[in-house]
Order: sequence, then C-alpha cells, then structure tokens
Amino acid sequence: MVCNRRANDDLPSVFEDGDIILGGIFTVHLDANPDIPSFTTTPTGTDCESFHLSNFRLMQTMIFAIDEINRSKTLLPNTTLGYKIYDDCSSSAIASKAALALVNGEQELIEYPECKGSSNVAAIIGCDISTSSIAAARAVGSFGIPMVSYFSTCSCLSDKQEYPTFFRTIPSDDYQSKLLAVLVKTFGWNWIGTIRSNTDYGNFGMRAFIEEAQKFGVCIAYSELFYRTDPADKVTKIVRVIKQATTKVLVGFLHPGEMRILLKEFLRQNVSGIQWIGSEGWVTEDLLPPEERAKFLVGTIGLATRRTEIDGLRDYLLKIHPSRFPDSFFVNKFWEAAFTCSLKADNVTEQTPSAFQMQQCTGKEQLDEIKNAYLPAIMDGSSYHVYKAVYAVAHALDDMLSCEEGYGPFMNNTCAHISNFEPWQLLHYLHSVNFTDRTGEVVYFDANGDPVPTYEVINLQMTLKGTVEIVNVGYYDGTAPLGQELALNVGDIVWSTVDNQIPPALCSEPCPPGTRKVSRKGQPICCFDCAECADGEISNITGMYKRGAEYDVIVSP
Ligand SMILES: *[C@@H]1O[C@H](CO)[C@@H](O)[C@H](O)[C@H]1NC(C)=O
Ligand SMILES: *[C@@H]1O[C@H](CO)[C@@H](O)[C@H](O)[C@H]1NC(C)=O
Ligand SMILES: *[C@@H]1O[C@H](CO)[C@@H](O)[C@H](O)[C@H]1NC(C)=O
Ligand SMILES: *[C@@H]1O[C@H](CO)[C@@H](O)[C@H](O)[C@H]1NC(C)=O
Repeated sequence: MVCNRRANDDLPSVFEDGDIILGGIFTVHLDANPDIPSFTTTPTGTDCESFHLSNFRLMQTMIFAIDEINRSKTLLPNTTLGYKIYDDCSSSAIASKAALALVNGEQELIEYPECKGSSNVAAIIGCDISTSSIAAARAVGSFGIPMVSYFSTCSCLSDKQEYPTFFRTIPSDDYQSKLLAVLVKTFGWNWIGTIRSNTDYGNFGMRAFIEEAQKFGVCIAYSELFYRTDPADKVTKIVRVIKQATTKVLVGFLHPGEMRILLKEFLRQNVSGIQWIGSEGWVTEDLLPPEERAKFLVGTIGLATRRTEIDGLRDYLLKIHPSRFPDSFFVNKFWEAAFTCSLKADNVTEQTPSAFQMQQCTGKEQLDEIKNAYLPAIMDGSSYHVYKAVYAVAHALDDMLSCEEGYGPFMNNTCAHISNFEPWQLLHYLHSVNFTDRTGEVVYFDANGDPVPTYEVINLQMTLKGTVEIVNVGYYDGTAPLGQELALNVGDIVWSTVDNQIPPALCSEPCPPGTRKVSRKGQPICCFDCAECADGEISNITGMYKRGAEYDVIVSP
C-alpha cells in the first residue's frame, strides 16, 4: 500500500523510509526569507540563503549514524531506522513548524492505521541554536515526542517544567559560564568588558557568567549586546566603546554570525590588542582570513566541546557527490556552495543574477582538494554531538526491545513494543540510557536531560608559518572528583600582548603597604583610590582595606 505522506512539506527535506523514523532539524541555510515561514506556498527552493557547509556536514552525520546503526548486528537488529530531516534556515518559526510537521501524522493515521510507523517520527534530533530548540520543544512538548539537540546550550532548556521532552548531547551553558568566570579569576582580572549576541544563547549565557564573575569580585567595565540584523551604526558604536575602554580583556558570548559582523568592524576601526575570552559558539570557527586572524584573534582563550574524530565519517562525507544523489536538493546546493559553481539542472531554481555569471560545475571537482568548513582538518565537536544524539535514541529503542514481559517498567510490569509504542515510553528509556560509544565515551543524561559536561580550554596561537592554530591548554571533566575538574596549563598560553605577558585588567592597581583602599563614589568596587593610613593604623600588605569600613567587600587582588 502507498502511504500518503503529509502534503505540506513546503520546506526542503530529505526522507528515507524505515521501520522507525527519526526526525531531524538542521540549519543548513543561515538566512530565511522573512516571508516564508508559511507552509502554504509552493516550494521553489530559493527561499533560504547562505548555505552553511559545516551544518550540512551535521545533517550528513545524522544519516551516517543511521546508516551505521542499520548495518549493526547488535544494536537494533531486525529493525531499520529511517529519517525525515528538515532545514530550519536558522528561523525559530520554521523550526517549530518543522517539528510539528514531524510529529503530525494524524490525518493519515485515521485512513491508514498501518502507516503509523512511517508517518510519525519516534524522536527528533535537533535543533541547532537554542532559540530554535525553545520554539520547537514548546511546539512538540505536549505530544511527548523526545527531542535531542546537538547544539543548543541555553541553560534555560534544562527546565523540565517548560521543556519536558528536551534532551541534549552538548553541555548546558551553565557550566560554560561558570568556567569562563573561573578563568577570569585565575588570570587575576577584575576589570573586564563583555559582549554578547542578543539571543537566548548570549543573554542567558552572559547573565550566568556575570553572576558568577561578580561572586569572585570581578567588575564589569562595560556590557554590550547586539543582533546580526541590528543597524550597522550600533556595531560601530559598540566597537568605539571597546576601543576606548580602560580594559583590554573582553569576554564574548556570541554566535559566529554576530562575531563575524563585530570583527569586520574591528578591522574597519583597526582595533587590535584585545584579549578575547570566548564562548564555545565562536572560538573554534574560521571567522577571518589567516592574516587578519593572526592580527585580531591571536591570544584568544576559550572553551570548546571535545573534538572527536568518528571513524568512517570522513570517508562517508568524501563520497557525497551530485551524481549519487541527482535529485537531492541539499546535495546539489552543497556542491554549488563548496565549489562556487552552478549545476546545470539547478538553473531553474536559481534566480539570483549573480548565479548566471557563475561558472558551471563540471562534476569532476574533488572534495578532498578543498579545505573548508565541510571537512576541516580537525573535526569540531558538533558532528560528534549529532552522532551521540542518534545513538542515544537508538540505544533507548534497543533497551525497549530487550524488555521482558512481566518485568517491564510500565503499568502492571508491561513492556512497550517497538512496532507500536507511545512517545512517553521512549522518553522513559531515553532518561535511563547509559552506554559507551565507539569513541569510548560514556553517554547518559541527568534528570534534566543534560549530559556530563566536558570542555577543552583552547588558545589561538600563531604558528611559524604565520597561520593561526587552535591549541589545547586545558581540560574540564565534569566526571572528575570535586575540585579536580579543571586542569589548566597557564604556561602554555600565548597572550594577546606584544611581550606575551598576561595583560593586566584591573580598574585600580592594588594599594601599596602603608595605604588603604578608598572607594570612589558611584564607581564599581574594583575602582578605588589609595589613601595614607591614619595615625595608629598600619597596613603592611598589598591590597589592604580598612577593617569594618563599607568597602570591605573588596576581594584583595
Ligand atoms: C537502513 O537499512 C536498510 C536495510 O539495510 C537500507 O535499505 C536503508 O537504505 C538503510 N537506511 C539508511 C538511512 O541507512
Ligand atoms: C539550464 O542551462 C542550460 C545551459 O546553461 C540550458 O541548456 C538549459 O535549458 C537550462 N535548463 C532549464 C531548465 O532552463
Ligand atoms: C552507567 O553504567 C555503568 C556501568 O554499568 C555504571 O557504572 C554507571 O554508574 C552508570 N551510570 C549512570 C549515571 O547510571
Ligand atoms: C604585617 O604585620 C603583622 C603585624 O605586625 C605581622 O604579623 C604580619 O606578619 C605582617 N605581614 C607582612 C606580609 O609583612
């Protein structure tokens, strides 16, 4: 029988049938046309712009993982997984509609109950940015459909009252924010600037960072925010503030989209010498051409999720070619974006004038000859997070399979059946998943659906060839005993300063012996003057304050 699939698939999607279908939501294009988030117009394929090569890799990683599980004789034997994947074009409105489209199979179910397995997804792998996950998790939460995100880090998503079915394989920013504050304290800074993306990611992440930093007595010299669609003069003003500030240390909680815009303005105003402390959102991204990266970003310290190579993934990615997937909208777009050429068959849909001047793709282009975000020399953590997300769902399904009737976890010790289960039953298994993946990492979720946090502390350093390299200078392991989670090699760090010394970032120099701190009215506690001690008082320690005075809260630097 032919199952009638949903008719309103207006957005580009890829589908492969199976006994159980996993939904996927990825951000393959970065810009959605403002008027498309309707599911009512005919698809033209030109609606979303800015094809993102590394996000396309993430989408392919999901397919790779499903392929691998399908071939496995031990994981889900005799059950094939299929997929239905949407591109949300970086729009939270599209993300929530795509999520609804993935769970919505009711119409067909009434007419063709046999079709249930193939029209409803068991779980959704996604979304990309937090704002999209928030929208999608709200949309599908009431259906009980599990979502496992590979990229959304907003701590807000740990709230299980709000997002009961949300899981993720990337750690919550809660840890990241705390860790960035610990780094600032460790380097002895108390006078820093902050900048963030005006998004859930930036706002929640920065708020937690500032809270944490203030506990360490760190003061915020300035705090700026913007979003990529803000008028250009806003960014101009922000960079002027950064340029004129009395601190060179700048903590940035940003998406690559905003960081790219900001750096463009840095270049224009020629602001160098900033000591960046960066969130995992942008520090490992290739945001500038090599020479400019060297000038503006060397010395950057930041956090990155663990970079892991997955055996076989690189070969799989190299084999993707339009001739193997002639009908695939995404593969064709990918080829054109990777080689800046135009595939003949696509000239119907491509309406931008510049495309007509673009040369034709020959089909003989070689993926292994280009160096770009699709296949970086060292894979960042994102592919691995997608891979883990797919495996977590597969293991949950597999655990469901191994249930023994009479000993099951559900009412009257019953089991769920893989051919016909309720979403909340899979949710139950996902909560208790616990396995060691192929890279040797143990995967499980805490009560909030969060993974154990692990990070690399990275530093952007100049190589002898003049290129900038990401160097690992520390490691954070959430499973280590209390107090031993963070290991840092401060001596290995290259700083942004000309003499390669830790740049000072203090509002006031500590008061020398014989003097004490006097706070300045209306200024942060890190800014003070030093006054001679009065008769009968002594201070023989640097950074001494007067006992019992109102400004005693100062933490001595
Ligand atoms: C899953 O496995 C089946 C049978 O081996 C295969 O036909 C199908 O193409 C596979 N699907 C994916 C997504 O790998
Ligand atoms: C695409 O372009 C080729 C030549 O560049 C042309 O021959 C062909 O007719 C075009 N296809 C369509 C559908 O317009
Ligand atoms: C996961 O399984 C291992 C081995 O069976 C066990 O030692 C560990 O405590 C489990 N972890 C959790 C969080 O359940
Ligand atoms: C400061 O003076 C006190 C009291 O005389 C003394 O006990 C302490 O060791 C001195 N500290 C330093 C750093 O000299």
